[in-house]
Amino acid sequence: MPADTFVTRLNEQIAHEFAAHQQYLAIAVHYDAETLPQLARFFYRQAVEERDHALMMIQYLIDADADVLIPGVAAPQARFGDIVAPVALALEQERRVTEQINGLAAAARETGDYTSEQFMQWFIKEQVEEVATMSDLLRVVERSKDDPMEIENFMAREFSGEEGDDPTAPHAAGAG
Ligand SMILES: [Fe+2]
Ligand SMILES: [Fe+2]
Repeated sequence: MPADTFVTRLNEQIAHEFAAHQQYLAIAVHYDAETLPQLARFFYRQAVEERDHALMMIQYLIDADADVLIPGVAAPQARFGDIVAPVALALEQERRVTEQINGLAAAARETGDYTSEQFMQWFIKEQVEEVATMSDLLRVVERSKDDPMEIENFMAREFSGEEGDDPTAPHAAGAG
């Protein structure tokens, strides 16, 4: 059984993951409205991933017989000045989440809860990838901000394939 502090913090993290879902959805809709379908598609997919993260955490708490609180979420930023701003916001968000995830792993270790610490390992690895992806994307949109079609071509080239299922990913609640 995880310590109360870990349960509280993981519930807070569930709220952050749902907030990330809403933020990425708002970014996807923004790009869709700007007729940038490849950027939109990328962020629709990122949104689904964030929802999955929340559902993995929910499943963990259910399995541990701990309280799960489905949070309300504050409205995300929906208006952006240029093509770069949403990606800059996304990178900022991923960096913040990385700190939160590391904090959760540390909190688990402090109480000798190695099961929860191990649960957080997958998210630590995931954050390394997400920060790297978003940093790369920020470089691309900054370099080509005056040529959105160049960015769209890059997205189609680099992010067109369906991502395969990650067999090491924790089970998400409701995923069968
Ligand atoms: Fe996430
Ligand atoms: Fe993320």
